[in-house]
Amino acid sequence: MISPTPHAGWHPASWLACNAGQIPAYRDARRADAVMTALARLPPLVTSWEVDALRGQLALAGEGKAFILQGGDCAETFDDCRSDVIVTKLKILLQMSVVIISGLKRPVVRVGRMAGQYAKPRSASTETRTDQTLPSYRGDIINRNAFTAEDREPDPELMLRAYERSGLTLNFIRSLIDGGFADLHHPENWDLDWVSHSPMADQYRRTVQTVADGLDFFESLTGKSIDQARRVDFFTSHEGLHLPYEQAQTRFLERRQGWYDLTTHFPWIGVRTSQLEGAHVEFFRGIRNPVAVKVGPDTTPAFLQGLLRTLNPDNEAGRLTLIHRLGVGRVRQLLPTLIEVVREAGARVVWVCDPMHGNTETSSSGLKTRRVESILGELEAAFEVHRAAGSHLGGVHLELTGDHVTECTGGARGLTDSDLPRDYRSQVDPRLNYEQAMEVAMRIAGHGRDV
Ligand code: PEP
Ligand code: CO
Repeated sequence: MISPTPHAGWHPASWLACNAGQIPAYRDARRADAVMTALARLPPLVTSWEVDALRGQLALAGEGKAFILQGGDCAETFDDCRSDVIVTKLKILLQMSVVIISGLKRPVVRVGRMAGQYAKPRSASTETRTDQTLPSYRGDIINRNAFTAEDREPDPELMLRAYERSGLTLNFIRSLIDGGFADLHHPENWDLDWVSHSPMADQYRRTVQTVADGLDFFESLTGKSIDQARRVDFFTSHEGLHLPYEQAQTRFLERRQGWYDLTTHFPWIGVRTSQLEGAHVEFFRGIRNPVAVKVGPDTTPAFLQGLLRTLNPDNEAGRLTLIHRLGVGRVRQLLPTLIEVVREAGARVVWVCDPMHGNTETSSSGLKTRRVESILGELEAAFEVHRAAGSHLGGVHLELTGDHVTECTGGARGLTDSDLPRDYRSQVDPRLNYEQAMEVAMRIAGHGRDV
C-alpha cells in the first residue's frame, strides 16, 4: 500500500506516531480497522482533477484575481441530509456569489462547508448533566448527540454513514449544477422566500439583473455563449479533524505521482489541532490537496514560519490558505504581524478571513451567539489591513444557512438577544441567516477596489 512520496517519512498513517488531539479512541479497534478497510475500497467522493483545478483557482485568489466564498453550517448533521436543506444552502451561496462577482468584478470560487462537515472539535472532552458525566458529542461522524452512555460512545460505523451522506449530498449538488440550476442566466432558480419582503430585495434584484444583462451583452457582441460562465464550479470542504476517516480515503495516484485525500477538495485544520508536531499537520503535509489552516489570536510568528515550511515547502501557489479568525477587537493589532511574517518568508499563501469564530459570545439568556456588527467589523478591518500592507484578502469563510434562523443578533432586521430563542436550531455554533448572509455579501461587494 505504501508508495513513494516526495515527503520524507510520510505515509497516510504516519500521523499515528504524533500527538493527536480531538480524536477519540474506538473501544472496538478491530471493528474500526474493518470500517477503514471498507472505506478505502469505496470510490472516492471527489477526483484529483477537481482538486487540482481548485488549487489553480485558489492561486488566483491569492493574487487578488478571484475571491473565495467558503460557507455552510458549523456542523452538518445526518438528519439534515435532505433535499430542501441542501438546495437552500446552495441557493444562498449562489446568490451571495452573484452579488460578490458584480461588486468585485472578479470570479468567485464557491466552496461549501458541506458534504462532509461532520466532525467537531470540543473544548471539553466530557459533559455533565445533573449527576451524570458522559463523553462530549463530537459530531455525527463520531457519536450521537442524545445524552446516553450508548449514544455518546464513539462508533466506527458512523464513518461509513458519514461517507454515504457526503456522497448523497455531493451527488445532488452535482446534478443540480450539471442540470442548469446554477446557470447564471437563470438566477430566478435561486430565489428564496425572503426576496419578496426583505429590505435588501431591491438591491439584490438590481445586482442579479446587471449580471444577467452583462452576460447577454457579451454573448450578443461575440455571437458565442459563455460556456465557462454559464455553469459554475462548486467545491466542498470540511475540517480534516477525524484522521482515521481522512486516511482511509487517501490514495496514491500514479498518474499524478502524489497522495490525494479524496473525501473533499479542500480540507482545513482548526485552531485546536494545529500543532506543528501534531498529527493533523503531519497528515496534511503529505497530501496534494490545497489545504487551509485556521490562525487565531494565539498564533506566534515561530509557529507560522514552521507551518509555511512544513505545509508548503515548495512554495506552490494555491497550496496553502491561511484563514485568520482573530476577533473584531484584535484583528487590527494582530493581523499586520501575521502578514509581515509571511512576507519575510517570501511565502505564497491565500488569505481568507473567518469573521465568525473570533466573535462568539454568550447571550443574556445563555445561548451562544454572534453579532452581525462584529462580523462585519472584522471583515472591514481585514480588508483595510490587507490593503494597507499591500496584501490581498482572497476570500471569506462563513457559518451560514439559507433558512430564517435566529442565531446571530443584529443585521438589517436588528435581531436582539430576546429574538434568539424563536428559531435557534444550531447544535454547535450560531450561523448567519439568509438575510444576514446577504448583508455580508453586499458589504464584501462594496470592496471592489480593495482586493
Ligand atoms: C469551526 O470552523 O467550526 C471551528 C471550530 O473553527 P476554529 O477551529 O477556527 O475554532
Ligand atoms: Co464553528
